[in-house]
Parts: sequence; structure tokens; C-alpha cells
Amino acid sequence: MSTPNIQMVDLTTQYKKIKPEIDEAIHRVLDSGHYILGKEVGEFEAAAAKYLGTKHAIGCASGTDALQVAMMALNIGPGDEVVTTPFTFVATTETIVLLGAKPVYVDIDPLTFNIDPGALEAAISPRTKAIMPVHLYGHAVDMDPLMAVARKHGIPVIEDTAQAMGSEYKGKKVGGIGELGCISFYPSKNLGAFGDAGMVVTNDDTLADKVRTIIMHGSRKRYHHESIGVNSRLDTLQAAILNVKLKYLEQWHEARRTAARFYNELFKGANLTTPFEAPYTRHIYHQYTVRLGNRDKVDALLNEKKIPHAVFYPIPLHLQEAYSSVGKPKGSFPVTERAAAEVLSLPMHTELTQEQQRTIASAVVESL
Ligand SMILES: Cc1ncc(COP(=O)(O)O)c(C=O)c1O
Repeated sequence: MSTPNIQMVDLTTQYKKIKPEIDEAIHRVLDSGHYILGKEVGEFEAAAAKYLGTKHAIGCASGTDALQVAMMALNIGPGDEVVTTPFTFVATTETIVLLGAKPVYVDIDPLTFNIDPGALEAAISPRTKAIMPVHLYGHAVDMDPLMAVARKHGIPVIEDTAQAMGSEYKGKKVGGIGELGCISFYPSKNLGAFGDAGMVVTNDDTLADKVRTIIMHGSRKRYHHESIGVNSRLDTLQAAILNVKLKYLEQWHEARRTAARFYNELFKGANLTTPFEAPYTRHIYHQYTVRLGNRDKVDALLNEKKIPHAVFYPIPLHLQEAYSSVGKPKGSFPVTERAAAEVLSLPMHTELTQEQQRTIASAVVESL
């Protein structure tokens, strides 16, 4: 439900602004007859690698697949452990469990909502095969202390960059700091396709080669399968669309950052906590997420007022029914559990007007 003109994410207005370019790209692909891989995929991979400053960028079918394929490239499987955060979208844990490995959770930092690097070392065991931080909401994880622990123990890092393509850590784009970075181009992401799409990035030639093989059924040469793989190629159509949209990404990040600053101003003095932006990051505000002591009341009142909003995520992964076998009962990760009870994300996209933001902010403040 939404008040007229206010949407959580407005994808159609953005599309209309660049419609001629997008439509031209779509028709070029339709006319070419090449719908899987092809020129557009190579062009988008090169442009994305340049944008992120990584040596390799390999398109795949979704951000979820990117995580699975990255772990397959590291031979992660039964008996292995992957250290990660319980406060994230389900895909981060789902892919670990699908491969037969076990997620080992580390609680989050209360300010950034990201994995707490100070608590990381205690979670490392001889079975740890990867560390998987998530740059949640578009705010970078504090990577230096995390990488120091990873290097000390010789453990590779897979950055879940699904929500953070273009976010920076100390001036460097995230995704290319660890061994592998996994990106989602789900339509509502800062760089969104018109369907599912994803990407794995790396600076390591061997890992890049493995990822390229895995996404093609474990095959380098047609009908010769050297490893067990999956079918996870990036659609030519999505690549052509993403190639057009990538040119606008910086301008779109800035629009979100401007909108975030305006929300912060509107909420000055109100009894809520606006998003934290650590000095080491350039937050790209995939989500603008506030903390509220009385979140559920505000949630209900905003529903009545038909102001779009969302809770990312109401149930931490260690408390999800599907992952109860991980064996971490309620109370295991108090900072995460408190965040899950207090966070609320407000409309955030490139087409948000100040008038809309005033309406949203007034409705939130009246509901406190
Ligand atoms: C943190 C995180 N990881 C992984 C994913 C999975 O990406 P996709 O939806 O493209 O499969 C998402 C997407 O929504 C996400 O937010």
C-alpha cells in the first residue's frame, strides 16, 4: 500500500528518463539473435571491472548464484565452516547450507549493522574455509581489521557486495578487497537489471578461471565437463541494459546520498536514530534505515497512513526455522536481535522528491 506517488523504490520513473537508450539496447539484442552471453556480456564485464577496479568481473544469473559459485570456486563443501553475519538477506546463509557447509555467525556492530571485526577471531576454527562479510544497506564493512584476521589465519574472504556496488572503504570500491566479491543486480539495487542478474569479481586469475568454468556447467570446452558446475550465465539482454545504466550509477549514488542528507535534516531532534556513516566509508544508501525504540508501533501507524516502508530484516538468520539446525537459540547474538526489532527502512531511490521526503518524515515523526 502506498500514498500516491510515494514508492519504496520507483523503477519506472527512472526507466522513463533513459528509455530511448535502454530501448535501443534491448532492440539491438533482440535483432542480433544472440541471447546468451555474446558481445554485450563481455562489454558489461569489462565496464564493471573498470568501475570497481578489479582485474576480473564475471556475470552470472543472480547475486545468490554469485555467492554459491564463489564458494564452489573455493571448493567449500560438507564439513567446512563459513564465518558470516546473521543480520542479512537469507541468500548469504542459504548458499552456505546448500553446499553442505555450516554458517558460523558473528554478531554485528550496533552502529553499522555489519559484522563486528573485533568479534571475528573467536569464530575461527580449523574448519573455517571462508569469511563472508556483508556490506549491508550500502555501508562498507570495516575491512582492515577483518582482512587482518583473515590474513593471519590464511582464510579467503568473500565480500557479499549485493547491496553495495560502488560503496567505498577508505577510497577503494568494496567487492575487490577480499579474494572474491559477489554483486546482485536485482531490479531494486542501486544498479538494477530488468530481471535477475549478478556478478563475481576478483583479482585472482585462477579463481576467475574457476568461476567462469563453474557457471558454464563446469565446462571450458563444449560437452567436456572438468568440474561440477551450474547453469548461471548472465543474460545478454540484462547485460545490455546494465551497460547503459552503469554510466549513470555515480550520479544515482549521489542522488541517494543527497536524499539521505535531507532525511537526516528532517529528523533532527526526533526520537529516532538516523543512519551512521563511518568516516572510512562512502555509504551508497541502498537503504535508508533508521532505528526506533518503538518500531512496531511506528510500523503499524505508517501502514495506516499508507506510507511505504520496510523492515530489512525482521528475523535474524539464526532464528529462522529453515536454519534452526545451526543450533543458535534466541539470545545468542543480542546486537543482531535488537537491530532486527528496531530497524525500519524508508523510501529511498533516485526519483525521490523533497516534498515526498517531507511527507514521509512528518508521518514518521507523528508516529513516534
Ligand atoms: C545481502 C544480500 N545477499 C545476497 C542477495 C541475493 O541477490 P539476488 O537477489 O540477486 O539473488 C541479496 C539480494 O537481495 C542481498 O541483499
